[in-house]
Amino acid sequence: MSVLICGGAGYIGSHAVRRFIANGEDVIVVDNLETGHREALDPGVKFYEGDIRNAAVLDKIFEENEIDAVIHFAAYSLVGESVARPLKYFNNNVGGMQSLLEAMVRHNVDKIVFSSTAAVYGEPKKIPIEENDPTQPTNPYGETKLAMEKMMRWVDGADGIRFVSLRYFNAAGAMPDGSIGEAHMHETHLIPLILQVPLGKREAITIFGTDYPTKDGTCIRDYIHVLDLADAHLRALSYLRAGGASDIFNLGSGTGFSVKEMIAAAEKVTGQSINVKLGNRRAGDPAVLVASSAKARRELGWTPKFDDVEKIIADAWTWHCAHPNGYVGLKVGLRNSVEGRSTEATSAVAMGSGSLNVLSTPSMLALMERAANELVNRHLPLEQTSVGTSLNVEHKAATPIGLTLRAEAELIAIDGRKLTFKVRAFDEREEIGAGTHERFIVNRKKFQTKADDKK
Ligand SMILES: NC(=O)c1ccc[n+]([C@@H]2O[C@H](COP(=O)([O-])OP(=O)(O)OC[C@H]3O[C@@H](n4cnc5c(N)ncnc54)[C@H](O)[C@@H]3O)[C@@H](O)[C@H]2O)c1
Repeated sequence: MSVLICGGAGYIGSHAVRRFIANGEDVIVVDNLETGHREALDPGVKFYEGDIRNAAVLDKIFEENEIDAVIHFAAYSLVGESVARPLKYFNNNVGGMQSLLEAMVRHNVDKIVFSSTAAVYGEPKKIPIEENDPTQPTNPYGETKLAMEKMMRWVDGADGIRFVSLRYFNAAGAMPDGSIGEAHMHETHLIPLILQVPLGKREAITIFGTDYPTKDGTCIRDYIHVLDLADAHLRALSYLRAGGASDIFNLGSGTGFSVKEMIAAAEKVTGQSINVKLGNRRAGDPAVLVASSAKARRELGWTPKFDDVEKIIADAWTWHCAHPNGYVGLKVGLRNSVEGRSTEATSAVAMGSGSLNVLSTPSMLALMERAANELVNRHLPLEQTSVGTSLNVEHKAATPIGLTLRAEAELIAIDGRKLTFKVRAFDEREEIGAGTHERFIVNRKKFQTKADDKK
């Protein structure tokens, strides 16, 4: 029997995959790679690239494999983005859960372990937070996770799919050998942001608020090593396999650290002093968020092994030093429709470099196409071309997270009616990707795809 890990190419999922395999589990991963990385996948794992909202994708996976249980990491998780684009979050998070549970019902799979979040609690009424404390999310992200938990509860009642929902606080750290780690496209987590300063990618770390009612005036949070999280998922699965009833567990270290303490610990680990900027409080940031994990310790037999914050930071530092640009050089196949058929263009996409080097495959393709279009339609009359003509054009594109990207398209070859461009993409600091792009000449006035010509 196999375990299906949804989102196994993501930060936490990729660590969980390795932990499950090390424990002798047969693991299958489904991931649409939207925020995950192919390079983060365990090389030996059976991988389906697809979206869990697609019933056909799930049917194929459940038909081709004997799946005993599902571990569900596949969701969007940026709080700020969820406020700006709530429907995007409901669609993927709630819609993804619905699609997954429907497939599990269709294929008689009756166990699921789910990544929930501390964000379901909203402003805590007391510290440490316990599982039966009120849940009043203050953002759509937390609301979707709460809705997903409720959906599982009702489906358990009706269809007998038992679940464990793990509400985690701040996942941090990396595989101690530095082979995999945190490479979010838009980084919002404190430890990677702090470490960007000694890495030379950020001038200073901003502390938002120094007048909180805490020991040093800065916010206190609970950090948990990603390997301890992975271990908790394994234990949750054993609990369900042993017949345990559906339940919810907090996962945290139980110890809070202030932002200033985290910076001091990072200085100790890296041996470098870290520049700090003082900023105002951010709306909606509670002073203290610390979980009680007593229930998980008691009922799942879970004990965090890496609860020393310096160890957590040291593992993150090993990863970031080994991969300062995240999963750079990731080879991806870009599908580009030319002449109504699909051709492959290969692009080296730099992902996860700092907080800003951001390009998912679709946005890279869109940017390349826009730059090439601009060159073709406005800047490259046929009379001026010859084999080897090299013209540059800039195309600026604002990404959904507000980052301006620039692309340069350069005509590198003319072969009959086919033009080949090299397209390079840059963020505000550096080149972040390059690829080739092909177009066909259809008349002497302008170049366009043959598909356009047929219209
Ligand atoms: N990182 C944290 O501190 C933290 C804290 C609490 C909860 N969580 C939850 O843990 C989970 C994993 O978080 P992460 O930090 O590893 O995020 P991540 O973005 O690195 O991983 C999510 C993975 O799921 C994939 N995915 C998303 N939607 C998909 C879909 N519809 N179909 C297929 N694949 C899809 C992404 O490509 C990615 O690989 C998320 O559900 C998140 O809400 C994370």
